[in-house]
Amino acid sequence: MRAVDIIAKKRDGHTLTRDEIHWFIDAFTHDTLPDYQVAAWLMAVYLQGMNRQETVDLTMALAESGETLDLTEIDGYVVDKHSSGGVGDKTSLVVAPLVASCGVPVIKMSGRGLGFSGGTLDKLEAIAGYDVHLSAERYIALGKQIGIALGGQTESIAPADGKLYALRDVTGTVPSLPLIASSIVSKKIAAGAHGIVLDVKVGRGAFMQTLEAARQLATMMVEIATDAKRNAVALLSDMNQPLGYAVGNALEIAEAVETLRGGGPADLREHCLAVGVEMLHMAGQRGKRRWTTETAARASLEQQIENGAALAKFRELVAAQGGDVSMIDDPARLPQASLVETLTASQDGSIAEVKADAVAVAAFELGAGRERKSDPIDPAVGVKVHVKVGDRVQAGAPLATIYANDAARLAKAKQTLLTACTYSDAPVAPLPLFYRPAIHTD
Ligand code: URA
Repeated sequence: MRAVDIIAKKRDGHTLTRDEIHWFIDAFTHDTLPDYQVAAWLMAVYLQGMNRQETVDLTMALAESGETLDLTEIDGYVVDKHSSGGVGDKTSLVVAPLVASCGVPVIKMSGRGLGFSGGTLDKLEAIAGYDVHLSAERYIALGKQIGIALGGQTESIAPADGKLYALRDVTGTVPSLPLIASSIVSKKIAAGAHGIVLDVKVGRGAFMQTLEAARQLATMMVEIATDAKRNAVALLSDMNQPLGYAVGNALEIAEAVETLRGGGPADLREHCLAVGVEMLHMAGQRGKRRWTTETAARASLEQQIENGAALAKFRELVAAQGGDVSMIDDPARLPQASLVETLTASQDGSIAEVKADAVAVAAFELGAGRERKSDPIDPAVGVKVHVKVGDRVQAGAPLATIYANDAARLAKAKQTLLTACTYSDAPVAPLPLFYRPAIHTD
């Protein structure tokens, strides 16, 4: 085969065969294709799209470019979840131990934050000693021992995806649905879980800004996972305002712990229960058949929060991965910022917007996020928003608290945050948590 023929075929809008796609990705993985040919192919895919079969073939080629975790040694139906990335999204920190505490193994490889969206690994690293670098063997050993592992992607998982993403990033070809869907699902397939719950965020603080685009991406990912013989469900969730109150690494760990203790922001708790219900329901239908209804799944999750089992599982996870559990027992021991300032409402009214993107920028300006993968981050800094869209406030009520370690950064973040909230004299309806229906495996 010749790369130029495959590029031209896609350029002219024809359908690539499985063999062509696998040959192309394989050659790229083994460095026998120059970047300029791969870049040209990416642009052709971006402009011409891919059909369902091509997208599945690309997904499998990416998944098979490296190691695939074999989780058969772990007893039970293993589930995983993936969020397309948002602001204040600490769902994995709550839902993974919550579901694992119900006896359903959760093996999850997470990512780092980049740009606006936070990353679970950065949050976990706010816990002193927590080791996110797990080998494939360690993932499996933890799954067998304690039914949960939460770490980073091993280098051998879908290596072609990492290389391809780097090229997409510099060739304007990131926002292509088949490229995004195959990138996300290939990593989930290589990580081995039997069932995958996808949480596709939509809104101003998300990758997908419109419901239509989010639904298309979600449908495509569920279709690919199904064709790759995995069970999948995708939820569409709102990301116009931050999830929960806290945005920033240690702040989010503290909020997750509070939620596992039975408190926490109502929206975060409800969001975690909804994602957890999908994970248990999926396992219940295929595995030990305990959670045949969503009501039964929800009751188990609520019980595990109330009786302390979910928090105990998180503690067990932190201990097993080398973290300082005293920070879970007493979140005041997590890294703390030296400067704390609360902004207040400038007027009476209903909160019309809490712009997730503006809150994310403020947290980023404080040093909670990174522009490049290698940038350092400050685990202690961030923002706690005290209001949600639809809340009625009076002038002088607390709107948001800034946690900073640098006065200049604090001043900048303050300016940004002042643009985050808007008011309305008329009542404003709260934002929905989810846009139903969820998209299921067909
Ligand atoms: N996340 C991924 O893993 N890949 C993409 O292409 C976009 C978001």
